[in-house]
Parts: sequence; structure tokens; C-alpha cells
Amino acid sequence: MQDTQPKTIYLKDYRVPDYLVDTTDLWFELDPKATLVKSRLKVRRNQAAGVGLPPLLLDGVELELLSVTLDGILLSPAGYREFPEGLSIPVDRAEFLLEIQNRINPEDNTSLEGLYLSNGMYCTQCEAEGFRKITFYPDRPDVMSKFTTTIVAPTDHPVLLSNGNEIERGNYGADRQFVTWEDPFAKPAYLFALVAGDLEQVEDSFMTVSGRTVKLQIFTETKNVGKCDHAMRSLKSAMRWDEEVYGREYDLDIFMVVAVDHFNMGAMENKGLNIFNSACVLASPETATDSAFQRIESIVGHEYFHNWSGNRVTCRDWFQLSLKEGFTVFRDAEFSADLNSRAVKRIEDVSLLRTNQFSEDAGPMAHSIRPDSYMEISNFYTLTIYEKGAEVVRMIHTLLGEKGFRKGSDLYFKRHDGCAVTCEDFVKAMEDANQVSLTQFRRWYSQVGTPVLDVKDHFDETQGVYQLTVRQSCPLSEKQEENLPLHIPFRVGMLDSTGKEISLNEQGLTETILHVNGTEQIFEFFGLKEKPLPSLLRGFSAPVKVHYSYSNEQLLFLIRNDTDTFNRWEASQRLALNSLAELQEAYRKGEPLQLRSELIDAYRGVLKDRGLDPALSAEILQLPSEQFVAEESVFIDSEATVVALEFARKAIAEELADEFIRCYCELNSQKSYSPDAKDIAERRLKNICLSYLCATETQEALDMAQNQFDSASNMTDSAAALTALINYAGDSQAENSIAQFYTRWQEDAQVIELWLSQQSCSPKRGTLKNIRALIEHPAFEMTNPNKVRSVIGGFANRNFKQFHKNDGSGFEFVADQVIALDKLNPQIAARMVIPITRWRKYTGAHAEEMQMALQKVADSHVLSKDLFEVVSKSLG
Ligand code: ARG
Ligand code: ZN
Repeated sequence: MQDTQPKTIYLKDYRVPDYLVDTTDLWFELDPKATLVKSRLKVRRNQAAGVGLPPLLLDGVELELLSVTLDGILLSPAGYREFPEGLSIPVDRAEFLLEIQNRINPEDNTSLEGLYLSNGMYCTQCEAEGFRKITFYPDRPDVMSKFTTTIVAPTDHPVLLSNGNEIERGNYGADRQFVTWEDPFAKPAYLFALVAGDLEQVEDSFMTVSGRTVKLQIFTETKNVGKCDHAMRSLKSAMRWDEEVYGREYDLDIFMVVAVDHFNMGAMENKGLNIFNSACVLASPETATDSAFQRIESIVGHEYFHNWSGNRVTCRDWFQLSLKEGFTVFRDAEFSADLNSRAVKRIEDVSLLRTNQFSEDAGPMAHSIRPDSYMEISNFYTLTIYEKGAEVVRMIHTLLGEKGFRKGSDLYFKRHDGCAVTCEDFVKAMEDANQVSLTQFRRWYSQVGTPVLDVKDHFDETQGVYQLTVRQSCPLSEKQEENLPLHIPFRVGMLDSTGKEISLNEQGLTETILHVNGTEQIFEFFGLKEKPLPSLLRGFSAPVKVHYSYSNEQLLFLIRNDTDTFNRWEASQRLALNSLAELQEAYRKGEPLQLRSELIDAYRGVLKDRGLDPALSAEILQLPSEQFVAEESVFIDSEATVVALEFARKAIAEELADEFIRCYCELNSQKSYSPDAKDIAERRLKNICLSYLCATETQEALDMAQNQFDSASNMTDSAAALTALINYAGDSQAENSIAQFYTRWQEDAQVIELWLSQQSCSPKRGTLKNIRALIEHPAFEMTNPNKVRSVIGGFANRNFKQFHKNDGSGFEFVADQVIALDKLNPQIAARMVIPITRWRKYTGAHAEEMQMALQKVADSHVLSKDLFEVVSKSLG
């Protein structure tokens, strides 16, 4: 690998900053290859840091330093020391004005961090540590400063944006113009943003609860102005929701959103100027699927909510990332749940958590939601920080209740407004506002791994007493010596043999939260006439695994009778997992495969139950993904997993063909498109039926798919039909549809990203040969993360069958792509390598092949810090 290893940063080494920056005045003269940056910083010694005057240390990466001036005196090169990642300036006074000039090259910046160009438009991404690629600065979130920014650009870039309010504009020489922005709120450098381009805007306004009018603007390329309505609607809903649910009002007179095609993540909450990945903001019924509509709503909400949970109250250091991300994901999840189907939102989130976060928590990069150390902070924008972090906030909500939680959040915002704080401050505010102790609960912030609850029960017929024995444990990671018992809110209910809810106390309550906080506890319920059937961890009240041995009959009973929607779905997943495990076992033994009847019966019941919410039916009818099956096994047999799922899918399709046809025809209406929850649910259910029908590969079914493909008036139906054809039609029919779709949509980046991933994720068409061809296709761009995620990410993360081919070719291919990517965009390279780092879950030759691919990456070149951290932790 390499000789000089990147440094590990530890939370325990945190020190307050030596110097603070009261004001930051920036001046940009934009040029693709040579942008001039001038900064004027009012610097002051931080009294809290101690006595004396240590040298001023500034971060700076890949900058061409031109000059340094201190209180008007130009320093000679002997007056400071430049090193690879910064600048050290000896100082002799406690307050001074520092002026720095440097040059940067946006055009060559393919890392998409700092200032870069995307289709001719200048934009920035500074979180976490991108500002140091713009100018020398104390690039840490606990240095908060008031920013003024002047942008000078040629007239072909008429839109010039930065944070806050525009205060001045004019011409600059003959062929340039300038705009000056002032942000009245002190902020860390990671919230700085700049945009310059030839953009068009969609405008609207919002009246805040106190009667102020806020101007809302979405900026995009001219061809996309027709795709901004949904984001604008979502933004206004989010602004209203945050006022109503959290009492948070927007604080500037203008809120801007910009869509950018080249973006490493989903979006960024820069103060007053959110920058979005185009895929997370642009949508129209013809071009975007229902899931894209819902994703946009939640991400627009997420970034908007950061204005309070992130910007007004920010993080002291990057170990506290979950302070803003976990809390904000919880906020956006509740926003989506309030606007759509609450149960389905919960099912989707839990599904993501269990499939991907649980495997992260058991893999080589496992970390707690407040990590103790990192090499590269970009690697810690993870499902653990975001999704598990949100689950931890949700548990606080469960423990304190709606009102108590609101009291806590009010206190948190009031106490820490304008400050950079820690996760501890958040928990403390929740405690203080409610006079409760969360001492044991705090362990959720520092412990790694997914806790397990082993549940056993016993019924004493003579006394009518039902006992639940709950044992908690948590598998240890290599890094952790001990895991102490956590405080786990365990929501449970019980059903009697007729399927009715049983009262658990005198008040007739049918649901209760058990406080699991010891290693082993017994909970008793009195006055029962018969042994009840427990409904455990309702609503997924904690991010844990529950082991209780339900029989398949009991699971079927829960699917039919549980009043907790989440647990009805959960029972269907368990039943499917049991059935799949049996199929795998039979396959390994060379016995004939047969799908158990309970699962078919459950699905038949769902298809026949007219009263059931179609959104829930759709969720129940979906088999667990290969990835979830893999996560649930101790060691993964990839071949048996694929065989079992293919067999089950086909068996269900054949057994229930009539029911699927009936349901499909009933829902196949021609009404006009609306992305509301009910219509989305109906389309989803209909398209699941279509997909099962096509799994039978009968001509009749494929004709239905072709018909839908030819006549669809919205992208949801069109894409679902195309997926069915790609996966089940014969070669020429599939290829024709793929080509036809491309011809129609080649100018639309978002649709083409979808088209790429439909192929790369297809077990049938996403063969390595076809993936290689996609990479050579003119629509593919290695410098565009969305395209990379569509093709390489789709193949490695969602095409289990082809990626896990037994010859190891899939692993080697991904390794080669990662090596190429690392030289362009380290953040994306470090993401794409993850699927091959999970080799310890596999056995024999399969594990060896993955490990070899990983070693190939390690040996290829001097890796970026991002990739080095992931690769070395996975090999070591
Ligand atoms: N804070 C952004 C969000 O809302 C994500 C920024 C990610 N940046 C990065 N370098 N990974 O989630
Ligand atoms: Zn966020």
C-alpha cells in the first residue's frame, strides 16, 4: 500500500480553536483554470484556549498561495510556513487583520469538493472540509464567522449567488460584472456556498407565521425550468411543517435552491443557498418516478430543516455529525410520514436500515453514531450516522412522548442558538426540559453494533400469568472490549386466539413500552385467560434484532390480525425469510425445491383483501431482497440465495397468476398523474402485480408489459414496464425497448440515470459484458457521480446475481473501476469499494476472490485518504 499513512484523528484530542474569525470578506474573480480568491479575516485570539500567542494555523489544500498580509504589512515568505495541508503564521498580537490571496483551478477539480465546474456552471461543496480547497482558513465548524462575498464573473455567467442577502451589484470593467452578498448569521465555513452560471429561475414566495414574506427561488438550466414545481411545493410544505411541528420560522428574506448535475451526495444545506444534486430536485410526471417524487420531497425537507438543526445550532466538531444529521433525518422522516402514508414510510426506512445499516454495523467500517476516530470524515457520512442516528432520536421521542420531545427541542434551540455544540448538549436539553435521566440511554451514542433481544415466553395457566423473558446482547466488534446494556424502548402488544387485542392493564391499554435496560429481565402480565400471541417491537421501536421463535402459522396469523401495520409487514418478511431458508437448504442438499404454502396463502389473502391499504399490500407482497437475506445469514451462500429467490418469485407468480391479473386490471386506470399517497400506492401495487406476472414469462404477461410500456403517460408506469421487459422478455424484445427508451429520453439526464441503473441492476441484462458496454456508452461519464452510482453502484449493490458470480469477475471489475475513480473523485471511489469489503461474510473461494480484488486496489497506487481508510480497515 503506502509508506506514509494518513493520520487518525481522535475525539479525545479535541481542543477549542486557538483563534476565532469574527468576519470573513471574500472576493472571487472567476476563471475556469485560474480563479483568484482574496480573503480578509478579522482574527482574534480565543481567550478560552489559554494564554500566550501560538502561531495561527490555517487549513489549505491544493491552493496556489500568492500573498499574505498582516495588518496591512505584506509578509515575506520567511514570515510564514507553508506545508502540504496548510499554513502556519507566527503572530505577535491578539487581534489582527489577515489578508490572503490565492489561486485555484475549478476546471480540473474533479473531486467535486471546494469550487468546481459542472456543465459550465461554478458551484461549491464545502461540507465537511471543502472550504480549505478554496482558501486558507481555520476550516472547522466551531469557528463561526460573518461572511461577505463578492463574485466577479464574465457576463456569460449572469447569475452570481452566495449566502445571505444581495447588497450590491454592478459592472466590473468592460466585460465583467460583480455581485456582493452578506450573510447576517455567523456560520462555519462548511456552510459557505457560491454559484455562478447562466441559469434560469422559478420564483415563488412564502409568508411566515409572523407575517414576513420570504422570496423562494429555484435555479436551474433553462431546459429544466419545467421540472421545479414539485420541489417548490415541497419547500413550502416543509416551511409550514417546521413552524407547526417545531415552532421554527425561517430567518432570512430569501431562500435559494440550485440544481447541479455533478454532485457527490444528495444535497447541501448552505445558509440561504441550498445546492442540490439535480436528481434530488428536478421532476415532472413524464420524467420522474413516484419514488423520485417522494425522494425530492424528503430531501427538500431535510435540507430546509437543517436551517435550524445544523445551521442555527451547528456541530462543535465532526465527531458530532449525527447531532445534525440524525436529528434532521428524524425530522424529515416525520415530515414525509405526515404528508404521505406513515406506515409505508416506516417500512421503507426500516428496510433500508436493516439491509444496509445493520451490515455496516457488522462490517469493517463499523462505528458508533458518535465515532471516536476517523481518518477521512467524508467516509463517515454513513447510514449509521444518518439512519441509526435518526432511530436514536426517535427513541428519545418515544421515551418522552410528543409533548416532552417538543419541550426538549425548544430548549435545545433556545439554549444553543448561534453555537457549535455536541450530542451531549442535545441529550442534556432533552433531560433538563423533562426532568428525566437519560444516563443509560447515552450509551447509544458511543456503542457500536446492532443489539439483539432474545425473547422467550411462558404462560402459567393456573395463575393466568404471562411472562416475557428478554435477554439483550450485542455482538462485539474488534475495536470494542465491552458492550454495556442499553436502555431499549420495547413496544409490545398481544393478540388472543380470535385475533383480538388483549388489554394489558386496568385502563384497557392494548400496547405498552417495556423498558429493557438489563441483561436479562422478566416482564409479567396478569389476568390472562389463555396464552397470548405477542406482537413484538411494534413500529420498530428500537434499532435492534428480535429473536423469538414464531411458527409459520403464528406469522400467518399476525399478517392477518395484528393491528400494528408495521408488524403485519414484519410477519410477512419473517415468513418469507423462513421459506427462503428452507429453499436454500433443499438446494444445498440437492433436493427438489418446494415453496411452503403459508407464504402463498398469506399473499393470496392480501390480494383478496379489498379493505387492505394498497400501500401495505404492495409492501407485504414484496419478497425480501437478496441483500436482506444475506444480512440475515451468518455466512452467505450467494448461489443458493439467488436460486431460492428466483424459485420463490416464480412459484408465487404461477400459483397466484389469476389474482395478480385481476388486481392489475382493476388498478390499471387511465386517470391523470398525481404524486399523492393513494395514487402512488395503487401504481406500486399494480406494478408489483405486473412484475410477478412477467416472472411467469408467458406471452400474455409480456404483452401486458409491452402494452403498458407503449402507452404509459407517466414515468412510474413506463419504467416499471421497462424493468419487467428487461428482466423477463426475450433478447430482441428487451433490446428494442431499451433502445426505444434511450432514443426518446437521451436529452434528459435524470431519465438516463434511471435507464442506466435499470440495466445494471437487472439479474438478466446486467451481465458483466453488458456493464462494460454501458461504461463505454456515450451516456456514461466517469466524472459524474450519478452515472457512476447508476452503473457501477447498481451492479455492485443491487445486482446480487451478476456481481456475485462465482468466478470473481464482478469483484475484479469493481476493483478496476475503483482504482480509476480514485484519481478523479476519492469520495466516490471510497463508496464504490464498499461491496467488496464485506468479504468476511462469505466463505471459501468466494471470500478469497473478494479479498484478492480488495488487495488489487490496495496495491494499485498511492491511495487517496478516503479510499485508504476503507481498504486498510477492511483488509486489516
Ligand atoms: N449535509 C449534507 C446533508 O444534508 C450532506 C453533505 C455531505 N458532504 C460530504 N462531503 N459527504 O446530508
Ligand atoms: Zn443532512
